[in-house]
Amino acid sequence: MLLAAPPLQAPDLRSDLDLTIEELVRLIDLADDLKRNPASYAHTLDGRYLSLLFEKPSLRTRFTFDLAIQQLGGGAVTQIGPIGDREPLADIARNLDRWTNAIVARVFSQNTIEELARWSRVPVINALSDLYHPCQILADVQTIRERFGRWEGLKLAYVGDGNNVAHSLLLNAGRLGIHVAIASPETHSPLPEITASAREAGVEFTLTPDPREAVDGAHIVYTDVWASMGQESEALERQRIFAPYQVNAPLLAAARPEAIFLHCLPAKRGQEVTEEVIESPQSAVFDQAENRLHAQKALLLLLVR
Ligand code: CP
Ligand code: NVA
Repeated sequence: MLLAAPPLQAPDLRSDLDLTIEELVRLIDLADDLKRNPASYAHTLDGRYLSLLFEKPSLRTRFTFDLAIQQLGGGAVTQIGPIGDREPLADIARNLDRWTNAIVARVFSQNTIEELARWSRVPVINALSDLYHPCQILADVQTIRERFGRWEGLKLAYVGDGNNVAHSLLLNAGRLGIHVAIASPETHSPLPEITASAREAGVEFTLTPDPREAVDGAHIVYTDVWASMGQESEALERQRIFAPYQVNAPLLAAARPEAIFLHCLPAKRGQEVTEEVIESPQSAVFDQAENRLHAQKALLLLLVR
């Protein structure tokens, strides 16, 4: 069993940048050990409880946080619905921190995460916001190292909407030495404040409107839905805008022959990815989903007291 100490520098995981690069590597090493030896961690969080708050739907994040804490000896209480409608976020945080040892929240606005973290005395974990999806990227980089044995020197092509997942990939995969090339329409590129943070963190990346340019030489081809949760009314318009960005067999063939395909899921087959690609031997999407469990166990072991 790998020791979880010392504690992390930041008390929360509000965004990817709350983890230093050394902490991120330590977390993924721990996640690998948790995957190999789950039984040896069975009582490491005995008697610890999570508050799971979801303003948006979830399959993977909800199940994996709930199972992660249970398999480490603790438990979780889940609430689905708007956060902060009945009472101020400051009061919610100061109730939950009396009963549970961490707050995991999936929210519409990053401000909700920031406000919960401001008031909570226990860690707040961002389980997806409009800006970031840091828990997803932990599993992604674990999957990438399992497949390639390293991060340094790899190229990841992200093709599609410059959204929360693209932002988190840029920040975390980028800091691990993966060159992230994002192909998106200029109107839907990653936000300038995120690319500025990535640059400040020393990340080298490429932004291009051309999917072929992004996938050229790529070890990993990654995509996500064209309309994120909350953007359903734009779905038809987005199908038109993003049509040239579909990850299909010819696009995947333009990457390296050993390239893998990743998708955070849920996927819309026939839109951002074809059935042929997601079901192909190059697809690692279910390993990626499995690793949500192991990576989040590691996160809980490092954050929760
Ligand atoms: N990838 C991901 O976060 O899945 P869910 O929306 O099902 O949690
Ligand atoms: N970008 C997607 C990710 C879902 C896991 C969304 O925010 O809906």
